[in-house]
Amino acid sequence: MRRLYVETYGCQMNVADTDLIFGLLGRDGFVMTKSPEDADVMLVNTCAVRDNAEQRIYGRVGELKRHKRKGDVLGVVGCMAQRLGADLLNRIPHVDLVVGPDGYRALPELIHRATAGERSVDVDFKSWEHYEDVPPAQDGRASAFVTVQRGCNYRCTFCIVPMTRGPERSRKLIDVIREVEQLVSTGVTEVTLLGQTVNSYHNGTHDFADLLRAVGGVDGIRRVRFTSPHPNDFTPAVLEAMADVPGVCEHVHLPMQSGSSRVLKRMLRRYDRDGYIDCVERLRVAMPEIAITTDIIVGFPGETEEDFLETESLVRTVRFDGAFTFKYSVRDGTPAVKIKDHVADDVAGERLERLIATVRQVARTKNVGLVGSTHEVLVEKQARRGELLQSRTRTNKVVLIEGLPTLIGSYLHVRLNGTTGSTFTGTSTAARRELAVVG
Ligand code: SAH
Ligand code: F3S
Repeated sequence: MRRLYVETYGCQMNVADTDLIFGLLGRDGFVMTKSPEDADVMLVNTCAVRDNAEQRIYGRVGELKRHKRKGDVLGVVGCMAQRLGADLLNRIPHVDLVVGPDGYRALPELIHRATAGERSVDVDFKSWEHYEDVPPAQDGRASAFVTVQRGCNYRCTFCIVPMTRGPERSRKLIDVIREVEQLVSTGVTEVTLLGQTVNSYHNGTHDFADLLRAVGGVDGIRRVRFTSPHPNDFTPAVLEAMADVPGVCEHVHLPMQSGSSRVLKRMLRRYDRDGYIDCVERLRVAMPEIAITTDIIVGFPGETEEDFLETESLVRTVRFDGAFTFKYSVRDGTPAVKIKDHVADDVAGERLERLIATVRQVARTKNVGLVGSTHEVLVEKQARRGELLQSRTRTNKVVLIEGLPTLIGSYLHVRLNGTTGSTFTGTSTAARRELAVVG
């Protein structure tokens, strides 16, 4: 029996791809292990979006060398593998395999060859590859990711993803539905549909609105989420489907990147400040309770203090529920490399700190306003802290509640009692009653 260890970095699609790798190699007789010491095969599923992500991965791959015994295989897969290809084999002599996101089907064969001492690289794009026949590895959780689209056809000038994941392609609706039905049969009630610009999903016949209606219509599915949409792909039909389908949750992660039209233009985001505000308004008309989170980059080439102030002001205007904030990281091979006008690192760092403070303040004000209200939550897991359980509202707010682990996977109504500014504590009468019975 061969044991497989996989470490995952980066976005949710990488998490879903790791499940896929487990499915593929499970079929080939591998069993999962949580410790690299025990593993015969170690894979690192990587991210290439920012340089600090890559540096961390270099460090980790260096550490994993310790656990590599004779005959063991160490592979680098995912976006960094795709970006660097054979270069990575030259740079790190103890790496046996370099495989991009479209090459996982070849893993059993490449691992076999690596055991015999052959090092290999597979970074070809395969536009047909959706891994349709691979069973999703499910671990008994109530929530699952479902990749519905791979690649990206946008060309945001800062972004390496079009180069690491290739052109956009969408799965057939029927294949997605079959996967969702299969997940339901293992106990899943919540799915998150994944794509780089997920709402541009189109397979020639069906669009994203059709997909939301179909997934929301699967018996047993109680919540439908999706990430990440692009502001330009919220067609009236998609907004209508979001409003109509009861399962579609009141949360959207809507990457903004900047609040300055001048910067947005240089980023080739294909919307300006007003366009973004318009999208937010249309979402709020379709779903009045919708929570909105975002991604923001500071220090993009040419960003002035005035541009940055526009970003801060847009955070206040939209009243985001939360944001991931990043300092711009130059990526070889992206169009932005050619834009001169670099923002000094200390200036970008200082802007990032100010932005984080603004985001926190805006989110806190919003969240404090929610204390006292009641929400449906899905209980996800035991919280890191003490005896509590972690649950999530439809609006994607994390709520810690008291209750027994047997509640994991169930839906409860909780009253929000307090907030740290970002997460909540709450009580569920039903969960309390059960505790009292046991206690
Ligand atoms: N469309 C994808 C985006 C993937 S990258 C999705 O959201 O699903 C995730 C986020 O990383 C982007 O929204 C952007 O804010 C940030 N990012 C991408 N390239 C970056 C770079 N070169 N420097 C800093 N941040 C970057
Ligand atoms: Fe990247 Fe823009 Fe696509 S952020 S993934 S190029 S939409």
